[in-house]
Amino acid sequence: MERKIAYSAVQPSGNLTIGNYVGAVRNWVEMQSEYECYYAIANLHAITVRQDPAELRRRTLELAALYIACGLDPEKCALYVQSQVPAHAELCWVLNTVTAVGEASRMTQFKDKSQKHADNVNMGLMDYPVLMAADILLYQADYVPVGADQKQHVELARDLAIRFNNRYGETFTVPEPLIRKGVAKIASLQDPAKKMSKSEAENPNASVFLSDDRDTVLRKFKRAVTDSLGAVRYSEEQPGIANLINIYCAFRGCTPEEVEREFKGKGYGDFKLAVGEAVADVLDPIREEQRRLLADKSYLGDLLARGRERAAAAARKTLSKVYRKVGFYQG
Ligand code: TYM
Repeated sequence: MERKIAYSAVQPSGNLTIGNYVGAVRNWVEMQSEYECYYAIANLHAITVRQDPAELRRRTLELAALYIACGLDPEKCALYVQSQVPAHAELCWVLNTVTAVGEASRMTQFKDKSQKHADNVNMGLMDYPVLMAADILLYQADYVPVGADQKQHVELARDLAIRFNNRYGETFTVPEPLIRKGVAKIASLQDPAKKMSKSEAENPNASVFLSDDRDTVLRKFKRAVTDSLGAVRYSEEQPGIANLINIYCAFRGCTPEEVEREFKGKGYGDFKLAVGEAVADVLDPIREEQRRLLADKSYLGDLLARGRERAAAAARKTLSKVYRKVGFYQG
């Protein structure tokens, strides 16, 4: 039987957080043995927000190393840099012609980012989800493992696939988002109403980065916002504590009920220390492995070249089919 296809990507736009890790990358690792996987470094998406060129280049390699340090196996999945496979931009152009301006401008992330970067509301920002649809549809992906904030974008990819198929005949697989409960939206440690974000520059205590050392991780959890109820309980009334419980469960592999039992009668101080330790225990070896890999740039270069070959071959097949369907002369 043919294996199902999984596709996902992360933007090299900042330091990855534990939200990116448990919401996305760790699930990719779990899928790599069972699915045919393509995982990209989405640098085309990253420049929709202003980036420093030297930093973008550096972060690209750092992210490649991080993917492997997190457990992705370059033999099992195609790991590659999005801009190195031109078919992404090419399919995006075609998909633009089946996307209504209204549906793109209604996307929540576009509206949020337009507000946040009011001095740079560029065309790319609005086109972001169409490019994302091109990523997914190029590989005929069945599943897209992402965090909850990307659900709307994957739904747009579904709509565009269906619309294109109706207009031009069966071309694309209609993808499904894979969103893991409990870890799909890790919240900021300083404001549980907000998602933990890698571009959170304002308050350095709000996000825990995969690059944070043990002391930093422990300190950030120690300062995490809780409440005045004083009980480790998984309830909507206690969003700060619920978020910490989600994080603890994700890093220790337990259920919220088990956490409530373990910390019954104990104070927030004990609990926050335990969460910090659970996270640091996982991050320490990842950071170490990433550092080791970054010292061998030629290994990383080779691996990305192989990933690019594999991705480009799959992408070319779909793009050629699309060009045929829309009536482009192909010589
Ligand atoms: P990016 O880099 O913003 O986010 C990468 C992944 O991390 C998830 N995520 C979270 N999950 C849980 N809690 C959080 N606080 C949290 N913050 C982020 C995101 O949902 C995402 O899965 N647009 C994509 C990149 C992309 C892509 C694609 C994804 C480009 N092309 C094609 C899938 C398929 C993004 O949000 O990247």
